[in-house]
Amino acid sequence: MNRFSPTAKTPMSTKTLATLAIILSVRPLIFADEPAPQVNPKDKLVVETVLRLKSFDLESSTRAKEAVLRYLKADPGSDQYFTLIERFKPQEITEDLARFSLQHSTETSGVRGAELLFLMNAGSTLEAAIKSGDEKTSVAAVTLIGHVAAERTEAILLPVVASTKSPLAVRTAAVSALSRSVNGQKSVLTLVVSGKLADDLKFAAANVLLSSSDPAIKAEAAKHLQLPATADAQPLPPIAELIQRRGDPVAGAIAFRKTNMCINCHKVKGEGKEVGPDLSEIGSKLSREAVYVSILDPSAAISHNYESYALVTDNGLVVVGLLVSETDDAITLRTQEGLDKKFSRQNVEEFEKQKISMMPQDLQKQLTVTELIDIVEYVMTLRKPPEE
Ligand code: HEC
Repeated sequence: MNRFSPTAKTPMSTKTLATLAIILSVRPLIFADEPAPQVNPKDKLVVETVLRLKSFDLESSTRAKEAVLRYLKADPGSDQYFTLIERFKPQEITEDLARFSLQHSTETSGVRGAELLFLMNAGSTLEAAIKSGDEKTSVAAVTLIGHVAAERTEAILLPVVASTKSPLAVRTAAVSALSRSVNGQKSVLTLVVSGKLADDLKFAAANVLLSSSDPAIKAEAAKHLQLPATADAQPLPPIAELIQRRGDPVAGAIAFRKTNMCINCHKVKGEGKEVGPDLSEIGSKLSREAVYVSILDPSAAISHNYESYALVTDNGLVVVGLLVSETDDAITLRTQEGLDKKFSRQNVEEFEKQKISMMPQDLQKQLTVTELIDIVEYVMTLRKPPEE
């Protein structure tokens, strides 16, 4: 029971505006024993009271409104937060709510926030975030829109899919977001059939359309799209199917260490080369689905700091690698083999960030489906040690 619950201190059963007026005049000092509260207890009391008053119009009291807005700023994401916004729909809060939702786009609270934004006719805040220029924010916005924009989803996201300017991660997220509804799947399928879907989105599209719950979509997609074949010439099952299967982590640990396989580029607990991120605790960071996407469609979401660069020297040598260091005089790249190569600026003709990952795009060709599942099972066991 909350100690600031109005019933605990003040007889609030009358639920009248008069009571509210009394609360508004109470000095916050009476709550001074509360250790540095983020939420002003007086605001909380006001909030609880206005929520009890069935037909209270927030616009009728500036002080109540100010208290509500302060409370909303201090306690984003709480149940009360959403209840208040849903009830009073204060337009002043839409920017904050959008920011909150974007920061929590993979959580229930973020999606709830996005729902409210559309309910308040402020969905445009999320639409604007797609064009923020920050990849993570754009992906979050696209994902949220896929969850809540309902019949507007296609109008908002199809242009994103088609945009040549958007980063691949954002376009991929748009394909996935559209595919949450049958209508969205149909519009993606239309792009595929008409040859308008960009090549770098085909894995994402195949993955969702070939696991569609609608047999007609699935059948039509199968005529145009294929998931890449694996080493045993079996077509790769869609990720939605793969994540249902369990593998053998011991066999996975062995496959992970095959020549030219994962260990060649990833460190695990001190072993291996450091071309890609250290995977020692990756099972605590990524979901099973995200691990599959990392392996099968590596360019769709390139980890921060692991963008690859291509460099052409004046004698025509082309080197692709991660940027290890860049000074006024020299550029050092780490190649796929894990070798650091330093080039004098004088000899560099071109130097450019690449859109594709350093992680090979077709690793599954070297793996059977079983090996792939085993590797993912093993990767999921790589977790942070439990805290003491
Ligand atoms: C030629 C080098 C190379 C090989 C081989 C390779 N990777 Fe990677 N991997 C990378 C690089 C570089 C990145 C970072 C860029 C990116 O996210 O695409 C990466 C990213 C990842 C990520 C995402 C990590 C994160 O923090 O988000 C996972 C998971 C991963 N690799 C797993 C594997 C597994 C499993 C294998 C073996 C089946 C493998 N990789 C083989 C280079 C490689």
